[in-house]
Amino acid sequence: MKKDVEEILFTKDEIAKKVKEIGMQITKDYKDKNEILVVGVLKGANVFLGDLIREVNIPVYVDFMAVSSYGQSTESSGVVRIIKDLDTDIEGKHVIIVEDIVDTGLTLKYLTENLMSRKLESLKICALLDKPERRKCNISLDYIGFNIPDKFIVGYGIDYAERYRNLPYIAVLKEEAYQ
Ligand code: PRP
Ligand code: MN
Ligand code: MG
Repeated sequence: MKKDVEEILFTKDEIAKKVKEIGMQITKDYKDKNEILVVGVLKGANVFLGDLIREVNIPVYVDFMAVSSYGQSTESSGVVRIIKDLDTDIEGKHVIIVEDIVDTGLTLKYLTENLMSRKLESLKICALLDKPERRKCNISLDYIGFNIPDKFIVGYGIDYAERYRNLPYIAVLKEEAYQ
């Protein structure tokens, strides 16, 4: 685990501070709404979502979608598969999609188009990490934690080949760990 880490980009405390800020902003932006529905994108967003909803001070409902574009590879294939759909009908709801990281943007492009067709009241996107250099499509993010360089990162929910999700910080992986 730790021996595979090249450099820590964001410590546990830095992440917690940022998550709190985003939670406060969401609370402010939606204070006039009765409730919001937060849709976590499994599996990567699980850790971020768990921390984020505890920093939001209005009624929050939670649902998950599982999609996968990377599989065991470090490169996005561009093919998005739905593995698990929402449990609930989202018509008329204020929805925020929660992602751990936006890379090519293909996952979110697919998801936003898919959710928009379900007649929801509003849709915003919240991502902890943004790698803008890698973008392959145009999507606008409403809440962003950190911009990051084009390096292979893991931790705080983010995996390489399903490993490292439990690291409490966000780190750059050593090259030899994914070769
Ligand atoms: C990762 C990450 C995002 C997506 C971003 O998920 O968690 O969901 O890729 O990449 P993109 O912007 O190029 O589409 P992954 O498909 O690896 O599944 P996981 O969340 O289960 O790890
Ligand atoms: Mn993901
Ligand atoms: Mg992954």
